[in-house]
Parts: sequence; C-alpha cells; structure tokens
Amino acid sequence: MQKPTEQPDIRQIDIRQVAARETEEQFRILVQGVTDYAIFMLSPAGIVTSWNVGAERIKGYRRSEIIGEHFSRFYTDEDKAAGVPALILATAAREGRAEREGWRVRKDGSRFWAHVVVDAIRDDAGSLVGFAKVTRDITERKEAAAALEKANAALLQAQKLAAVGRLTSGVAHDFNNLLAVLSNGLQVLAIQSRTAIDKKMIEGMRKAIDRGASLTQQLLSFARQQPLQAQVRDVNGLISEVAPMLSRAGNRNTYVELALQPGEAFVFIDAARFEAALLNLVVNAVDAMPTGGTVTIDTETVQSNAALTPALPAGRYVRIGVRDTGIGMSADVLAQALEPFFTTKQAGKGTGLGLSQVYGFIIQSGGDVCLSSEVGKGTRVDLYLPIAQPAATVSMPSGNGRDGSAR
Ligand SMILES: Nc1ncnc2c1ncn2[C@@H]1O[C@H](COP(=O)(O)OP(=O)(O)O)[C@@H](O)[C@H]1O
Ligand SMILES: [Mg+2]
Repeated sequence: MQKPTEQPDIRQIDIRQVAARETEEQFRILVQGVTDYAIFMLSPAGIVTSWNVGAERIKGYRRSEIIGEHFSRFYTDEDKAAGVPALILATAAREGRAEREGWRVRKDGSRFWAHVVVDAIRDDAGSLVGFAKVTRDITERKEAAAALEKANAALLQAQKLAAVGRLTSGVAHDFNNLLAVLSNGLQVLAIQSRTAIDKKMIEGMRKAIDRGASLTQQLLSFARQQPLQAQVRDVNGLISEVAPMLSRAGNRNTYVELALQPGEAFVFIDAARFEAALLNLVVNAVDAMPTGGTVTIDTETVQSNAALTPALPAGRYVRIGVRDTGIGMSADVLAQALEPFFTTKQAGKGTGLGLSQVYGFIIQSGGDVCLSSEVGKGTRVDLYLPIAQPAATVSMPSGNGRDGSAR
C-alpha cells in the first residue's frame, strides 16, 4: 500500500513562518538578480553555499562550478599564503562584520580591486551558521582615483616650476643688468690701467663676469626666456648627427645606443639647443652609471586622444627618450630634479642646472618633459614635442589661381 502523502495540518502552521518564508523567497530572488554586486553565502568553514548573477559576472564562475568550493580561491596566492581568507572570516565571526579592500582573482586568473563586506550570520540561539559576503569590483574607481592623484601631482609640479621660473627670470634679468654695468666699467678700466698687476686683476674680473653671464643664460633658459631659433627639423636626423658627440660624453664602460623609429619625425625646434639638451641628459645618465652601462636614446611618434600631460593637449607628438641603467632616483630626488640648482652631486661636480634648462627649453618649444626612475634600476627622461609639418610641404598662402600655382 502506498503511503498517503502527508497533508499539512492547517492548524499547526504558524502564519509568521509562512510570512518569513515568503520574504525569504522574495529576498532570494532579489539577491539572485543583483548584477553589480557579488552576493553569496559561505558556510562557517568558508565553503560557498549560494551564488548570484553578480558573483558570476564579477568572478567568472558559474554557480555549478563554485558551490561547494572554498572561497579562498578568489584570493591571490600572496594573500592565501598570508592567511588573509581565514583572517577575514575570523574577524567577521568575532565582530559581526569585516570590511576590506584588496586584489581578488577571477576565474580566468585576471585580478580586480575588490571592496568586500563579510557579515556573520547567526541563528536565534546565537551560534554561527555562516557568512554573507558582498563583493564589489571597484577597479575602475581605484584607477580613476590613482589617475586623478597622478594628474594633480603633475599639475602641482608644473605650477611649482612655473613659479620658480618667474622668480628665476626676474633675478636673472636684474643680474644681467648689473653684469652689464660691471662689464662696461671694466672695459674703461682696462684702457686706462698700465701695470701688469692691474691688467691681471681686470682679466680675473672679466672671467668672473663671463661666468656670471653664462649662468644667467642658463637661468633664463630654465625660465623659458631665451630667444629660440626654431626651424622644422627631423628629430631622428638631428639625433643621428650628434650621436658621435654624445658617445664621447661617455667613458670606456658606457655606451650610447640609438633606437630611433625608422623614418622622419618633424618638429619645430632650435637644433643647437636641442643638441645641448640631449648632451645634458646623456651626461646625467653617464654620471648615474659610475661602473658603466648603456644609455639608450629612442624615438617614437605618439598619437594621444586625451591630454598627454598637464601641459600637452591631445595631439600628435614625438617622444624622445633617454634612458640609463644607472643608480636611479628616490621619489624625493625625482620630485625636485627639474628645479634649478637642485643637485645631489658634490660641490664642483654638479650645478643643478642641467635638467632645469632641458625642462625650460622643451616647455618653451611647446613640449613637456616626463621623468621616471627607480632606485637601483635606472632612469628615463622622455621629451615630448609636437609633430610639425615637414618644411617642404608647409603650405604657402597662394591667393591666386585655384591650383595654387604662383605666378
Ligand atoms: N639619469 C639620472 N639618473 C639618476 N639621477 C639623475 C639623473 N639625471 C638627473 N638626476 C638627478 O637630478 C639631479 C639634477 O640634475 P641636473 O639638473 O642635471 O644637475 P646636475 O647634473 O648638475 O646635478 C642630479 O643631481 C641627480 O640627482
Ligand atoms: Mg646634469
């Protein structure tokens, strides 16, 4: 005989339980449908017992693949080794809730930056029945925040250098005027003086004035006040021409290597000043490699659809990179390296005016300078210059005739 199916005894059903079960069901459906958050349950030991669409979207596992697995597989190997998964459950069990941010791993092995909240779930008697875990992928937000921070730092740096530039320019101009007065006076004295001692003294003063004048030129260069003789030139050609001179800046153990993009890359630039800037960078690189190494100069055309740096809007640029495998710079040194008179070299070895001149010159030429460096690994200095039309094809205003031919 078949056992009669058990009918619930209406009188025994607690209406509150039905309501609770119904809301529980509604809640389950709601959680299932959430796509922006991974919401799932863990057993007290950390085994996944439920899974929603958001979890599948964020972590990449289908429900059937993950239920019954330990949740530590979402963690990086480093975190697993450090016992982070167990720690977060222990904290949630002790304090009721644990909240963390960190890298998590998707099924395909890629990482995302996660915001995680774990709540301990207890029954009426207070014993732990599991955990509810809510994970959000906030990689984009973290990246946006990091990009904003970087842009702000770059902007601050540019503003600081512009302020130092104004000060430098004022001092250099005044200083130049004083030197001019001294120089004129000295010329008169030179004509009048008879004795050899006088002449020697005047010669010494003349040299000091010349040194002062060259210093003010360097300062004016940082302050972007030096007149430039710019022409449209091919950067790759220019670099190839000066390569032998740059190589001589090295010593027996340092090599200068070129890795130029094939073809021509035209920029509007003062060639002599550009060569001096390259030399400055190569000398710094050589200084940074006391036991030898390689300085590499490379070029590349870059098309940027967004602002490249605070000084450079979207557009086409040539990047000229000078990189070394030297001692590198600490974050502190890096932040000050472009300032005039900042040097870490001993007195007599460094003037602290090399990078500041390069910076002033490149900014004045419509470009920008980016430094990156790692202590013990090396440094790279990237100069960006806007791409120009090659001189031969610069269109001349014609005005007569549709074909543009001149008469
Ligand atoms: N390639 C490089 N590697 C490591 N540090 C560098 C490099 N280039 C510049 N620096 C740092 O920046 C400082 C300023 O450079 P610079 O303006 O050329 O002045 P100087 O070379 O006279 O010290 C240097 O003293 C050094 O600390
Ligand atoms: Mg230098």
